[in-house]
Amino acid sequence: MSAHHVTITVNGEPMEREIESRLLLVHFLREELGLTGTHIGCDTTSCGACTVLLNGKPAKSCTVLAVAADGAEVTTVEGLANGELHPIQQAFMECHGLQCGFCTPGMMLTSKALIEENPDPTEAEVRWGISGNLCRCTGYVNIVEAVRQAAAAIRSEAGEEADHA
Ligand code: FES
Ligand code: FES
Repeated sequence: MSAHHVTITVNGEPMEREIESRLLLVHFLREELGLTGTHIGCDTTSCGACTVLLNGKPAKSCTVLAVAADGAEVTTVEGLANGELHPIQQAFMECHGLQCGFCTPGMMLTSKALIEENPDPTEAEVRWGISGNLCRCTGYVNIVEAVRQAAAAIRSEAGEEADHA
């Protein structure tokens, strides 16, 4: 069993670890760091429950080796809130964009990257953007509404900041 010295930043916290070569990123996050908000649904890159942001891009952490994240910045759902709920979390809550919550962390991280790339996505663009994340409970109507509401809230925050600059 070989281990590698890895430098990684998780939710803004830099750390160094000896990581076994075959350890998957999702297991590293859940079992070594206790960040159990990253869920495991299928283990086969199908459901998106394990989605995290790797250098700002959505990645299914069930199919990324932890050593491959050497030098990277990883964001999990635990890194979204900053004293108060992130606008995406707030919108999911207000729009009832979740039921059991199993898909929700991955869905929110995918949405964060989507909104950063496209601040005003249409319904079709949201549906396409989250198409790698499966929800078995809600259907997608409320999720899509939540993502569009979050995008509007983020645009409005950015507008207010620009006004005060
Ligand atoms: Fe990773 Fe389903 S657990 S895609
Ligand atoms: Fe249950 Fe999406 S809220 S799987």
